Amino acid sequence: MQAKNSNLIFNKDFSQLNTLLEENYSDSIKFILVDQNTHDHCILTLDQIGVSQLEDAEILLVPDGEGSKSPEIAISLWQALMSHNADRHAVLINLGGGMVTDLGGFIASTYKRGIDFINIPTSLLAMVDASIGGKTGINLDGVKNQVGTFNDPVATFLNTDFLQTLPQREFMSGWAEVYKHALIDNVSLFEEIQKIESPSKEVITTDLLKRIIAVKQQVVQSDPFEKGERQILNLGHTIGHAVETAVLGSDHELLHGEAVAAGIVIENFIAEEKNLLDNNIRKNIQEKLKSWYPDVFKLEFRGEALTEIALADKKNTNQNIRCSLLEEPGKVKWGIEVNSEDIESAIKQWNAI
Ligand SMILES: NC(=O)c1ccc[n+]([C@@H]2O[C@H](COP(=O)([O-])OP(=O)(O)OC[C@H]3O[C@@H](n4cnc5c(N)ncnc54)[C@H](O)[C@@H]3O)[C@@H](O)[C@H]2O)c1
Repeated sequence: MQAKNSNLIFNKDFSQLNTLLEENYSDSIKFILVDQNTHDHCILTLDQIGVSQLEDAEILLVPDGEGSKSPEIAISLWQALMSHNADRHAVLINLGGGMVTDLGGFIASTYKRGIDFINIPTSLLAMVDASIGGKTGINLDGVKNQVGTFNDPVATFLNTDFLQTLPQREFMSGWAEVYKHALIDNVSLFEEIQKIESPSKEVITTDLLKRIIAVKQQVVQSDPFEKGERQILNLGHTIGHAVETAVLGSDHELLHGEAVAAGIVIENFIAEEKNLLDNNIRKNIQEKLKSWYPDVFKLEFRGEALTEIALADKKNTNQNIRCSLLEEPGKVKWGIEVNSEDIESAIKQWNAI
C-alpha cells in the first residue's frame, strides 16, 4: 500500500514546516503545545534545526500523562489562547505523543469554531497511529475519548529522529501498533516484521514508517467516520482495552500498546475457536509477541472481570461486545459478536501460556 494523503510530510530538516508557516501563517499567532517531556527533548530539536518561523511561538505546556486529556486542561488551553488574543488565523502546532496530538487537535478544532493545527508526533505510537486518521479528543469521567471531533491537521510532519529520546518501554508500546498494522496489511509486511528479533529505534526507517502509516490511511480513507470497515483497526483492542483497564492502578499497570499485544493474543484464541484462524499462524503470532513482551505474558487475568469491563465499555454505545478478528495476515473480519464464554475460554488459554 502507498500513502496517498499529501499532508503527510516525511522530512528530517523541517524546511517544509518553515515554508508552510512562512507562506500561510506569517502574520498569525503561533502556538506550540507540548508536555513536559516533549518540552524538554523535542523543542530543542526544532530549535537546533532552525525553524525560524517558530522563534516567537507561544509555548503551551501541559503535564505529561493521560490525565492531561481532560476538560479542565482543555478549558485552561482555550483560556490561554484567548489571553494571547488568538484569532481564527492562529495556528497550533502539536509537538508530542498521542496525548498531545489528541488534546491539541481537539482544542484547535473547537476554539473559535476551529483554527488550523499541525501535528508533529514524537512517540512511535503517535507517528503510526494517534496522529493519523483525524480523530481528536479528550477523556470524560474516566471514559476515554468521550468528547472529540473528526478533523484533519493542515499537515503532519514525521521525523524518526524524535524517537531517540523516547523511553524504550514507550517505544515498545508503539511497536505493538506497528505489528497490528502489519497484521492488517498483508503477508509480506507481516513476514518482514515477524523476522525482527528485537525491535529497536534503528528499525524504524522513514521507508518502514511510510508503509506502516499507509495501512491505517488506506483503511481510514475508505471509512473516515468509522461506520464500518475502519473497525478493523480495532484488532486486539476490544480485549486489549479491557486488559488495560483491569490492571489500571495496580502494580502491573500496562501501557496501551502492551495491553494491545495481550489483546491480539487473546482475541486470536477466540478467532481460532470460531474456526477463523489457523492454529499455526496463531501460535507464531503468540510466540513472537511473547518474545517481545515477556513481562506482559507473566500476567494472569480473570475472564469474568475482562468481560465485565468490555460490557461496561459497550454500555456507552448500547452494543454487544464485538471484536475485529484475524483470519490470516492481511485479512481481518470486523463486527464479530463475542460472548462471555468466548472471552473466558480465551483467558483460560492465555493464563496457561
Ligand atoms: N486519535 C487516534 O486515532 C488515537 C489512536 C491511538 C491512540 N490515541 C491516543 O494516544 C495516546 C497515547 O499516545 P502515546 O503513547 O504517544 O502517549 P503520550 O503522548 O502520553 O506519550 C507517552 C510518553 O512519552 C513521552 N514522549 C513522547 N515523545 C517523546 C520523545 N520524543 N522523547 C521523550 N519522551 C517522549 C510523553 O511525554 C509521555 O510521557 C492516548 O491518549 C490514546 O488515546 C489516539
